[in-house]
Amino acid sequence: MNPVYDKLKKCYEQVKKKTDFQPKLALVLGSGLGDFADGIRVEETLDYKDIEGFPISTIPGHKGRFIFGYVREVPVVIMQGRVHYYEGYDITDVVLPIRLMKLMGAENLFLTNAAGGMNFDFRPGDLMMITDHIAQFVPSPLIGPNLQELGPRFCDMSHVYDTDLQEAIRKAAGTLNIPLKEGVYVQLTGPAYETPAEIRMCRLLGGDAIGMSTACEAVAANHMGMKICGISCITNLASGMTDAPLSHKEVQETADRISRQFKLLVEESIVQIAEGLIK
Ligand code: HPA
Repeated sequence: MNPVYDKLKKCYEQVKKKTDFQPKLALVLGSGLGDFADGIRVEETLDYKDIEGFPISTIPGHKGRFIFGYVREVPVVIMQGRVHYYEGYDITDVVLPIRLMKLMGAENLFLTNAAGGMNFDFRPGDLMMITDHIAQFVPSPLIGPNLQELGPRFCDMSHVYDTDLQEAIRKAAGTLNIPLKEGVYVQLTGPAYETPAEIRMCRLLGGDAIGMSTACEAVAANHMGMKICGISCITNLASGMTDAPLSHKEVQETADRISRQFKLLVEESIVQIAEGLIK
């Protein structure tokens, strides 16, 4: 068997032994949403470290667990903590959790992250719905023998971010009166922040927000036919756009400042998405 698929199956079998919860939607929590699960009805939790073979974040303070529960009435599996390519993991390990959540039953994927704003109209604290991405600066998780059990060799990428889910997020933002930006997310490897020249390049390529996660997760999820949506919290203006140096502290402070709004928007979006699913 293919080692990537073999590892995924082994992780899945361990999860199955621990829970038979059936999520409809998978949610990945980025900075600013770390405590999102405090506000929901939690049924079960599963620490990543209790799943043999599962990639565990090396970043201090990052929680690492799945939370199974309900956002209002919607059954969800939540990833509290993700691993990044810059931590040294193979890209197939970085997306293993996404693939695992699909195997658990989640047909919908809600991605969130913190990102730098490259668009001159953005300000720190803005929330940007991801309409598309540029992922070519990191290796594709689909490189290697195709995992036919998961999806096709050459998969279409023309609508990675589902138009119905985008509409649900717009509706949620409207209901809550939260201003919503929209744009293209660019993933670079990190871990260093970008140079001003790199930011100018990414802006020229059509990017609006810059980060070190998420797009590779969307690639793997799209391969499996998941319906995908995402929101970036714009925590800072990207390199070269202000005189101030970039810092992880600034990223965290903005994420914390905006977290209440971000949580409300994600919760309401999930409710709107679920309404669409039932129809
Ligand atoms: N660059 C890359 N990743 C980020 C940034 C940034 O400016 N802000 C938050 N994550």
